[in-house]
Amino acid sequence: MRRRTSRPASTRRGDVEDAFFRHIVAGMRNGVLAFTRDGRLALINHEAYGIFDIPPRPDDLGRPLTDVLHAHPEVVRVLNSVFDVHLLANRAELRLRPSGKVIGYTLALVHDDGGHVIGASMFFKDLTRVEQLEERERLRDRLAAVGEMAAAIAHEVKNPLAGIEVMAGLLRRRIADAPEAQQVLTDIITEAKMANRIVQEVLEFVRPIRLQVDRTVVADAVRSAVQLADTKVPRGGVAVEVDVPAGLPLIQGDQHQLTQLFTNLLTNAYEAMDGRGRVTITATATRMDDGELGREAVLVELTDQGPGMSTEVADRVFSPFFTTKPQGSGLGLAIVRKIVDAHDGSIDLQTAPGRGTTIRVTLPVTTIDGFTN
Ligand SMILES: Nc1ncnc2c1ncn2[C@@H]1O[C@H](COP(=O)(O)OP(=O)(O)OP(=O)(O)O)[C@@H](O)[C@H]1O
Ligand SMILES: [Mg+2]
Repeated sequence: MRRRTSRPASTRRGDVEDAFFRHIVAGMRNGVLAFTRDGRLALINHEAYGIFDIPPRPDDLGRPLTDVLHAHPEVVRVLNSVFDVHLLANRAELRLRPSGKVIGYTLALVHDDGGHVIGASMFFKDLTRVEQLEERERLRDRLAAVGEMAAAIAHEVKNPLAGIEVMAGLLRRRIADAPEAQQVLTDIITEAKMANRIVQEVLEFVRPIRLQVDRTVVADAVRSAVQLADTKVPRGGVAVEVDVPAGLPLIQGDQHQLTQLFTNLLTNAYEAMDGRGRVTITATATRMDDGELGREAVLVELTDQGPGMSTEVADRVFSPFFTTKPQGSGLGLAIVRKIVDAHDGSIDLQTAPGRGTTIRVTLPVTTIDGFTN
């Protein structure tokens, strides 16, 4: 007598294969989704949920695409057109509306054994970070070209400026009996000093950074910056609170450059605060946002109680020469950005009018290379 088996052997092998395929899709580091001809979701993996920022629901499979992806009408539009177009996109890009993320995607049709189209699939990847890196690269090239020119001009202007200052000083001493003329000369000297400061900053900004990398205690750089900032800008009654716990990882960084970085942030905070309120600096251990288990890093947050910034201002603060201050050169934050980049770190700000400003600097414990431009 033949033994009854619950399923023919061939189907069982099929089951193993199905499971295997499911695992492949689930483990892919691309977003994958597939849908049937009538627009219902047939398959979606974890990565896809993550990129689209939508919570998985147990009954998603079988639901209309338009429902599952209702937060992304631009994706639904692309998917809906897939059965109508002759040439399907291979390596096209799309910006997701709510998050601004850029995805790179490929579309493919799904055929049955008889060659009939029964659905379609989409493979995609979040390209936002790739885009950011390219943008950084482009900015670096641009700055290198502009920088060479600016450095040459600044260098030429430095000597005549110093000459003007010295000669005006000499003349002022010679006309001790003409107070009005003396006042004019004092003004000339003040203006020349200011121009000189701007030239110095331009030179500092355009000079390539060569980091003197050493194992650095971030707290030390912060404390030196608090002292140094006092010599640059009067802070009046502004209180500074430094909350940096002991035991944070040391970072591979340039102590001098990091001090400059925090000094620039502090002087901005003091200038924004008009002699009142509190600036808080905290540091915590964190991870870089650069891969699955990002590199170990230290996050420094500097919060002020100043007037904050509008979105238009906040969007431009890191651009060289952008300033809203009558005496500003607009290079403070451009230099900050450059130092952060040289340390392979990241910087962002949270601000709104009337809400103060928090600048967040994330510095990896290890840099990729020792020095950079
Ligand atoms: N903490 C802050 N609060 C409010 N606005 C700020 C703050 N930090 C920077 N800003 C805005 O960003 C602009 C650019 O800052 P940045 O430090 O680059 O240049 P600056 O301070 O104007 O001049 P410089 O630093 O060269 O003397 C400032 O003019 C200001 O409008
Ligand atoms: Mg500044």
